[in-house]
Amino acid sequence: MSEAKLVFIGGGNMATSLIGGLIEKGYPTSHIAACDPVVDSGKRLKADFGITTHTENTTAAAEADIIILAVKPQIMKAVAKDLAPALTHKPLVISIAAGITAAALQSWLGEEVPIIRCMPNTPALVQSGASGLFATNLVNPMQRQRAGDILAAVGTVSWLDSEDDIDKVTALSGSGPAYFFLVIEAMTEAGIKLGLNPETARQLTLQTALGAARMAEASDVDAAELRKRVTSPAGTTEKAINRLLENKLPEHFEQAIAAAYHRAKEMADELSI
Ligand SMILES: NC(=O)c1ccc[n+]([C@@H]2O[C@H](COP(=O)([O-])OP(=O)(O)OC[C@H]3O[C@@H](n4cnc5c(N)ncnc54)[C@H](OP(=O)(O)O)[C@@H]3O)[C@@H](O)[C@H]2O)c1
Repeated sequence: MSEAKLVFIGGGNMATSLIGGLIEKGYPTSHIAACDPVVDSGKRLKADFGITTHTENTTAAAEADIIILAVKPQIMKAVAKDLAPALTHKPLVISIAAGITAAALQSWLGEEVPIIRCMPNTPALVQSGASGLFATNLVNPMQRQRAGDILAAVGTVSWLDSEDDIDKVTALSGSGPAYFFLVIEAMTEAGIKLGLNPETARQLTLQTALGAARMAEASDVDAAELRKRVTSPAGTTEKAINRLLENKLPEHFEQAIAAAYHRAKEMADELSI
């Protein structure tokens, strides 16, 4: 991985997981800094990772090759406008904030600043994230490579051709962990209702989720085929799957993910002004 100087603006959950992943992949701590107005957040990051910390965003940004904006979307406008004067050296800016468009960032940070929008998800906290990235025209191939390497430290990276796809990624994988948590919750409850003790039901459900995901990942056939292979005619799996299909589970997912996509677009309209 190239060794550009990285500065995280915002030292919360996402920044912490990215910093942890980068260090685990061998990124030098001397090239990572973070800025958070909360002194305790800085102290924690320094103690956990040995990186440099700041409390002034502009001081931190002045020496950065890459700035990662990891603050809540609601405060992004104020943070970006405050940073703009410190970006005359035109570092690459990667925003992981939901709902803030590249055009809005461009207008707040400066028209010549190269910007990448990224939508990670919470499993990044355990280095199993899935991120979608979209680069604006000002981003050069080396910057694109570096951004991909940074996000690859905490999971998979998918490059997107259109910025609108970021809202689709938000709906699918950004919000996606919660859909799987709901399935885990429902399966565990169903096991408990059958009479299993709660800890056993939980462990069996979790291991089944992990095992199924690993099998699907390792397999050269798609999930539909894997499902068919474990569904014997007139067996137990067929009974359960038929009940789920009669109750239109796939249609429910389609509608749920479409609703999340429309909400992501609405949020972009609300936050990017
Ligand atoms: N967590 C996720 O799953 C996820 C997924 C995709 C995208 N994202 C995006 O990632 C971004 C960060 O999310 P997060 O979960 O890491 O949030 P978080 O834990 O709240 O981290 C944000 C950090 O920024 C700090 N901060 C507040 N004002 C600041 C300022 N002016 N300058 C610098 N830092 C400031 C916050 O301090 P205080 O706590 O004192 O406010 C907090 O430590 C969000 O935009 C979110 O949309 C998150």
